[in-house]
Amino acid sequence: MNEKQRLESQNVQTENPADKKSEKDYSKYFQGVYVPPSLQDAKKRGKEEVQYHKDFAIPDEFRGMGEGRKFLIRTYGCQMNEHDTEVMAGIFMALGYTHTENVEDANVILLNTCAIRENAENKVFGELGHLKALKREKPDLLLGVCGCMSQEESVVNRILQKHPFVDMIFGTHNIHRLPNLLNEAYLSKEMVIEVWSKEGDVIENLPKVRKGNTKAWVNIMYGCDKFCTYCIVPYTRGKERSRRLEDIIQEVRHLAAQGYKEVTLLGQNVNAYGKDLENIKYGLGDLMEEISKIDIPRIRFTTSHPRDFDDHLIEILAKGGNLMDHIHLPVQSGSTDVLKIMARKYSREQYLELVSKIKTAIPNVSLTTDIIVGYPNETDEQFEETMSLYREVGFDTAYTYIYSPREGTPAAKMEDNVPMEVKKERLQRLNSLVNEMSAQKMLALQGQIVEVLVEGESKKNPDVLAGYTTKNKLVNFRGPKSVIGQIVKVKITDAKTWSLNGEMVTEAESVEVI
Ligand code: SAH
Ligand code: SF4
Ligand code: F3S
Repeated sequence: MNEKQRLESQNVQTENPADKKSEKDYSKYFQGVYVPPSLQDAKKRGKEEVQYHKDFAIPDEFRGMGEGRKFLIRTYGCQMNEHDTEVMAGIFMALGYTHTENVEDANVILLNTCAIRENAENKVFGELGHLKALKREKPDLLLGVCGCMSQEESVVNRILQKHPFVDMIFGTHNIHRLPNLLNEAYLSKEMVIEVWSKEGDVIENLPKVRKGNTKAWVNIMYGCDKFCTYCIVPYTRGKERSRRLEDIIQEVRHLAAQGYKEVTLLGQNVNAYGKDLENIKYGLGDLMEEISKIDIPRIRFTTSHPRDFDDHLIEILAKGGNLMDHIHLPVQSGSTDVLKIMARKYSREQYLELVSKIKTAIPNVSLTTDIIVGYPNETDEQFEETMSLYREVGFDTAYTYIYSPREGTPAAKMEDNVPMEVKKERLQRLNSLVNEMSAQKMLALQGQIVEVLVEGESKKNPDVLAGYTTKNKLVNFRGPKSVIGQIVKVKITDAKTWSLNGEMVTEAESVEVI
């Protein structure tokens, strides 16, 4: 199917339920590109085969479009979005644009948005408010909204009503269409809206301009089929689609050859890697085994879903080497009853059993997690179970959130008897525990020598260097700028709650200590 046909087919299927509710049917105002999102369509999971495209090219007529123009992309949300921004930056550069970080200089500004919680969305609407004045001063400025929020019809309708100065909105499945959409936006007087709600394809050879030259993100799969009852991601990112092994290997090899020291394999649920590949029995464990043979010092992955974390993966990770001893394993709640309502499909006991298997195989492993407090009707006892699980596992740290209802998800329809003050109190109590245990884990490293991948100067003090240990802990130390991008040994002298201070150890000293 070519792009035109696809667009047409998307157009046909976007019978948008939200439009029926809204006062206006905006489509009649549009002559240009108008393909709005539909969460209803996004929910569907078809059996259509995934197409792999390797023929992405900048259409000749758009080459040079960016000459004399500068782009700026503001990124919100997760690593997936960070990496999408790198792809969009690659497309802009291929079109001849140059990059700027200064809003006053930019000719195109994109907001690559996140829909995971209400406050993530509020930040974007706040930013749109600020940009309105700039747009008034510079009417030629092209303003675009992309990323996960664009996939929601309520967001698109709100932008149409309250922020009509936005020039373009495009979805997470439309990134490769950026050249065409920019062209449309330059030509059109109307807002250009192209958001495909369902996408089954993987586009392989998109250009990328990576941030930094030490660490790199590598997508191994897209989308999520888990449909946890609170979560918007399966709607904004589409169905699970794994990249082919050979394409991933080639990308990692290329990064190693370019001198990158660390890759992080990305997916919303990396443990489901390979499940959608037809006629191939190949999982994350197999993939990690293959990638560990590549000569690159550090390999990580994120994010793991406990349900698909199998024994083979544990066995491979236990071999260590360039596979890092840190696993981010979101638990969400310590209560089996809450986990059931969340549709996480594991119990407290099963999670603890998995942790115990991992710790047996990798005794020194660092475990981190995500937790939601104040789920609809969460009782005090259920919250206490989260606290006790946190202690029992002994997490190194956690990202903690108050539950935020997301329109279109099953949890958003649940009645909720937990007052906001109670949710806030629970978050505060959990955060105190997280801080206390993080500080303990840091203190245990005092006096030890750790390996640090040096990323650059510390944000707070340019005389100090900063980098991360194998367990992903931030270390600040004094050293020559020449070690930036290298892995060095650092003796920890001072442990804080969230970071470590240390002194660089020379080769001779480190031999002595070991
Ligand atoms: N795919 C990852 C999670 C991605 S979202 C996983 O399943 O592990 C990152 C985190 O945001 C989730 O782990 C969850 O803790 C939190 N989150 C997701 N939806 C949320 C919501 N509606 N309210 C509050 N937190 C949410
Ligand atoms: Fe959301 Fe659950 Fe998928 Fe994670 S696994 S992205 S929490 S639906
Ligand atoms: Fe946010 Fe989308 Fe990532 S909702 S967390 S940017 S997948």
